[in-house]
Amino acid sequence: MENDRLLDIRDLHVVFDVFGGTLKVLDGVDFTVRSGEKVGLVGETGCGKTTTMKAVLRVLPMPPARVTGGEILFKGRDILQMTSRELGQVRGEGMAMIFQDPTAALNPVFTIGKQLEAAVKYSASGDKRLSGKEIRQRAVEALKEVALPDPERLLKNYPFQLSGGMRQRVCIAMAVAGDRELIIADEPGTSLDVSIQDQILRLLRRLAEEINTSVILITHTLGVVREIADRVYVMYAGNMVEMAPTKELFSRPLHPYTVGLMAAVPKLTGGGIADGIPGRIPDYLNPPVGCRFHPRCERAMPVCRTDKPRFVKVSEDHEVACFLYSQEEEGT
Ligand SMILES: Nc1ncnc2c1ncn2[C@@H]1O[C@H](COP(=O)(O)OP(=O)(O)OP(=O)(O)O)[C@@H](O)[C@H]1O
Ligand code: SF4
Ligand SMILES: [Mg+2]
Repeated sequence: MENDRLLDIRDLHVVFDVFGGTLKVLDGVDFTVRSGEKVGLVGETGCGKTTTMKAVLRVLPMPPARVTGGEILFKGRDILQMTSRELGQVRGEGMAMIFQDPTAALNPVFTIGKQLEAAVKYSASGDKRLSGKEIRQRAVEALKEVALPDPERLLKNYPFQLSGGMRQRVCIAMAVAGDRELIIADEPGTSLDVSIQDQILRLLRRLAEEINTSVILITHTLGVVREIADRVYVMYAGNMVEMAPTKELFSRPLHPYTVGLMAAVPKLTGGGIADGIPGRIPDYLNPPVGCRFHPRCERAMPVCRTDKPRFVKVSEDHEVACFLYSQEEEGT
């Protein structure tokens, strides 16, 4: 199982130096994706989902961000140690991200065609060089995949000639146009029409199933995760708190935070996901010691206020970071 890991994030720590101090945001994140797998990542706003994935692509703004520890292995090689040339290759051929706010991903001075064709070209690895015609064809197909009408004409347009929603779909097309091994989709198309959102989710699923692309899907909507993901990670305040196959997570949530999330499901309307849990994400300037969830946890014990729970296996593919399920707790 170790060997089929495409992405393996180990004990990742990221802080932000801001006026007034240091925000200790990612506090030892562990996260893996296997080849061809669709992994969901959920957690309430501000828990560090986007920060984790931006660290993977090395696009965090530095400063204010600083990686203070950990490894991000992509096919066994640490992204954090790569030269800019190696990194360029990984970004071109290996992975692409659909950003939560994708408008910045388009360059205003080039046509859509030029940018999309560049994305297709760089994603095709050395041995399968594409001709100009093939590149153009793939660009057109990608625009059709995201339900954009009249792709031939669109290729000649500049970003400013498109509406916000169309620009967002162009960004999604850029990410899915090549044969990448991993696509990270951060709330893809949330601001788009529901039927187009559906189409984009179906497209991601098809890429995973037909060409074995791995997909990380970040979303606030648990229903979407349930429908698409093979496995789900639940994140809270800069930590992964639970990981399980999707079915198992929904039928047997263990971490008190996950239990709270599931309890909130019937009320979900696409807004926040933590309506079922009183309180809010802690202040990252001064986060709680021990389990970061303890101020909100009804089951907190003395050990939770002093020690940090680590992931423990509760069954073959189900891990939880909570003293209710670990041996440390039995000893106290
Ligand atoms: N550029 C930045 N400068 C300072 N702090 C930042 C920056 N980006 C993120 N943070 C801090 O990291 C925390 C986590 O942010 P992040 O965007 O990763 O959360 P998220 O889980 O993606 O939330 P959402 O669901 O709202 O997208 C924020 O609450 C903020 O404190
Ligand atoms: S470790 Fe303690 S505080 Fe944290 S979730 Fe488990 S019981 Fe609650
Ligand atoms: Mg985010």
